[in-house]
Amino acid sequence: MKLFHSPASPFVRKVMVLAHETGLLGSIERIRAVANPVNRDAAVVAHNPAGHVPTLLLVDGTALYDSTVICQYLDTLHEGTPLLPAAPLPRARTLCLQALADGMLNACVLMRYESALRPEAQRWPAWYEGQQAKVRSSLDVLERQWMGPLNGAMDLGVIATACALGYLDFRFPDEPWREGRDALARWYEGFSRRPSMQATWPDPNI
Ligand code: BEZ
Repeated sequence: MKLFHSPASPFVRKVMVLAHETGLLGSIERIRAVANPVNRDAAVVAHNPAGHVPTLLLVDGTALYDSTVICQYLDTLHEGTPLLPAAPLPRARTLCLQALADGMLNACVLMRYESALRPEAQRWPAWYEGQQAKVRSSLDVLERQWMGPLNGAMDLGVIATACALGYLDFRFPDEPWREGRDALARWYEGFSRRPSMQATWPDPNI
């Protein structure tokens, strides 16, 4: 399998953490792609019209996207405990936590594009603040509602949550997300020591 990736993409990181945790790393060849919303990478667009990373190419030429689909597919290829539970309610809860984390990540990535890519004269502060508000409400919900289920768990939702918090630290180091969210900060501190998280930390020079 070939994975179009960018080492800064938190959605690629989700896939890579899952690959580490499930022992699938050796089956995935990484192909470096340009992840730019304006100048899309033609090599990726040939397989995924959105031009997004991650995109996974199977040996028969099938292209899979987005990160949620790739993670679900990879989870069927290993023998360990599934990272997406089969039982209906645990499965729905895991997918819901993943949706919460991915919603945060989508807002963060839009903020990143707004502050790093959009020409200054075209920026819209209220729109940026709207994205920031989504991120902050999501963090509050994680702290208030998810700390019980998160503690000690290992599944797709937990991986997505850790990647979202990691992306905040990576691209928004001045965002004081730990303040008033002690349980979440403690959980992240522990989870980010896992070898899968350490091996996929984005390079600050990217
Ligand atoms: C980033 O550089 O922050 C980034 C790269 C790829 C996808 C999303 C974000």
